[in-house]
Amino acid sequence: MQPSAASLHLGNYAGALLQWREMQSTHDAIFCVVDLHAITVPQDPTELRERTRRTAAQYIAAGIDPEHSTLFVQSHVRAHAELAWVLNTITGFGEASRMTQFKDKAARGGLDSASVGLFTYPILQAADVLLYDAAVVPVGEDQRQHVELMRDLAGRFNSRFGETLVVPEVRILKETAKIYDLQNPGAKMSKSGESPAGILWLLDDEKVLTKKIKSAVTDSEGVVRFDPAEKPGVSNLLSILAIVTERTVADVEADFDGLQYGALKGAVAEAVVEAFRPIRERTLELLDDPAELDRLLAVNASRAESIADATLARVYDAVGF
Ligand code: ADP
Ligand code: NA
Repeated sequence: MQPSAASLHLGNYAGALLQWREMQSTHDAIFCVVDLHAITVPQDPTELRERTRRTAAQYIAAGIDPEHSTLFVQSHVRAHAELAWVLNTITGFGEASRMTQFKDKAARGGLDSASVGLFTYPILQAADVLLYDAAVVPVGEDQRQHVELMRDLAGRFNSRFGETLVVPEVRILKETAKIYDLQNPGAKMSKSGESPAGILWLLDDEKVLTKKIKSAVTDSEGVVRFDPAEKPGVSNLLSILAIVTERTVADVEADFDGLQYGALKGAVAEAVVEAFRPIRERTLELLDDPAELDRLLAVNASRAESIADATLARVYDAVGF
């Protein structure tokens, strides 16, 4: 994830962190806080440094184990930028132009304000994965096209320069985990959401979480029922409760038969506060000792570097450097 906000939110927790945490027991996992990607849009340097640390701390607090998995900061491993350059030279301009995420972003901000870095972002992303000989890339559906690009680039490199890069498989993460904005349940919960009260930050305190959940938008029917099309607000609350209590939506829904929205909101608030409390406390603890956090990240970066440098050496050799 990009270090582009001071805190991660419930959507990041449900859609990414929880599933990543699980994959650690079945895979040799590598996680990266992608600060090189963050500077494709303007960043304040002091804020970027702070957000990078905070993002890493939240990964650890949410259960990414830096002793067992590898968790590092992208800019600490120089091979990312170096492999991205080589991949840039085998990517077609038309091919890069077809990336729909760039088209969406450029359509919003205008082509003149978009950087070339934002345009070539998926190529850096390809380097992020290919450096580690990754077998599987777990992503949301919105990233499928970018994984297709990295597969194409790896295959193309191999056919031009000889067998060098591993072609990764895509693993689309469970879609059931999608979380919506509490104030605008038609839109996904996002750090760039329009209403501050609609986003549940992992680092919000109990009072703030409770207040936001109690003021969540529902509907006037007064019946607790899971029906995302007709009842997006209530359904979102049920999904949230199911995720943070690790139960199924149907199971959670049955608890509120004949009960009012107030009861549902009370239960959601309690469960979210319970789930976030240890994460918030552990994050604050880690941030309280920046030297120890930096030491952990440095150890992890050198572990990542030893894999990445070996791949880059193969690539440099293959292209004739
Ligand atoms: P944001 O929309 O806040 O900028 P990102 O696009 O950086 O979030 O997403 C980081 C990770 O969190 C991705 O794996 C994405 O699939 C997941 N994610 C983000 N928002 C949600 C959400 N509302 N529900 C489920 N997963 C989400
Ligand atoms: Na985003």
